[in-house]
Amino acid sequence: MLLQLVYVSSARPDAGTVDPAAILNSSRRNNTRDGITGLLYSDHKRFLQALEGPEDRVEEAFARISGDARHRAVVVLSRRFIDAREFGDWAMAHQSSPADRDAFVARVGRMVAKASPNVRATFESFAKVRRAA
Ligand SMILES: Cc1cc2nc3c(=O)[nH]c(=O)nc-3n(C[C@H](O)[C@H](O)[C@H](O)COP(=O)(O)O)c2cc1C
Repeated sequence: MLLQLVYVSSARPDAGTVDPAAILNSSRRNNTRDGITGLLYSDHKRFLQALEGPEDRVEEAFARISGDARHRAVVVLSRRFIDAREFGDWAMAHQSSPADRDAFVARVGRMVAKASPNVRATFESFAKVRRAA
């Protein structure tokens, strides 16, 4: 059994522009070590992240992440046990809202195709809201 945790947060406005590359570097290093995979969506204002892996490891990573000063208002949207990974095998896949928004929405849709209906709807509506913005 694996724990899947999905949360949303807001980038700290006073933290300057958060560099997703810096977050991803440490995420991929740690997550590879810890058997954690998932998806991080960011648009410079908000983060939406799914973490999947062994329960203890995911809880430890999430404790570090929630205390990170680069974001605030961390709200857990979903916490459930899964039999198999639903977000693929990326140590931490990353999507940011790009120029080609239609392609972006389609890509997010494909990445979450195996997720539960609730989690899928969350990611899809997040991508679409940014597309309309
Ligand atoms: C939005 C966001 C997502 C993050 N995702 C991860 C993650 O998936 N895994 C991880 O280890 N750290 C993640 N971090 C970084 C952690 O908060 C923390 O800085 C890092 O785990 C510390 O590891 P280090 O001591 O090896 O640098 C994230 C931070 C932010 C702001």
